[in-house]
Amino acid sequence: MRILYLLPLAVASATQLFTNHGTTSGWSKSHIEHNGTISQVTKPVKSGRTALKMTQTYDPSYTGLYHAEVHAYNGYSHGDERAYGFWFRLPKDWEFTPGQTFNIAQFIANFPGMCDEWMPSTMIWISERTLWTRRKTGALCPSTAQKTTNINTQRNVTAGVWHQVVVQARWTPDDSGFLRVWYDGERVVNEEGVPTTVAEDRPFQFRVGLYANSWNKGYKGNQPFRQVWFDEIAFGTELEDAHLD
Ligand SMILES: *[C@@H]1O[C@H](CO)[C@@H](O)[C@H](O)[C@H]1NC(C)=O
Repeated sequence: MRILYLLPLAVASATQLFTNHGTTSGWSKSHIEHNGTISQVTKPVKSGRTALKMTQTYDPSYTGLYHAEVHAYNGYSHGDERAYGFWFRLPKDWEFTPGQTFNIAQFIANFPGMCDEWMPSTMIWISERTLWTRRKTGALCPSTAQKTTNINTQRNVTAGVWHQVVVQARWTPDDSGFLRVWYDGERVVNEEGVPTTVAEDRPFQFRVGLYANSWNKGYKGNQPFRQVWFDEIAFGTELEDAHLD
């Protein structure tokens, strides 16, 4: 009898699994490489009192990666249907450099002892002016078996204003998954009946922050100091759980 009571409730209720209103506390971990910084600021904010500011500085004598990211563990595992949201803002003078990408969010898992020990699946990035995402599917190993499907949202990012990204996915390696993205409230990615993750099931983290992922492959442009603000970050089981604002 008890189970008959509980089941309809469980199906109907949205569950917000993670929220962060722009604070350095409350994350599973933060990760800063080289001259990057992560700080909590009172201006600009999307809402509330604080936002996160991530920076990275290019250094020609450094050959490593340029992450300045905060991590929320248990972003997804196989079979999960979840929604994620965050706001980001580029400074007014942001240089939209041809041939350069800046990643702003990603899902990534650790595969100890395997061919690709840290493998990001879906990422969200700015390529020059345009917002992109991707699906990563297939077997993890050998790494040549991994299949990457890049998705151009066809939407431009502008500087000096807050933008909202919402991702909703059913994470599965078979073709019963979906990947949907909203940009400033407009649905810009509609991938339905597709695989959305690799065959190996591990808990993927959800990370937001600045990852200047072109710089270790070849710096271009005239802006070696980069900063991005983030605010109102959340995820949960239903679309409404991705929205804090
Ligand atoms: C970057 O970090 C390195 C290593 O810690 C340091 O030697 C260098 O001065 C830093 N550069 C800048 C521009 O802060």
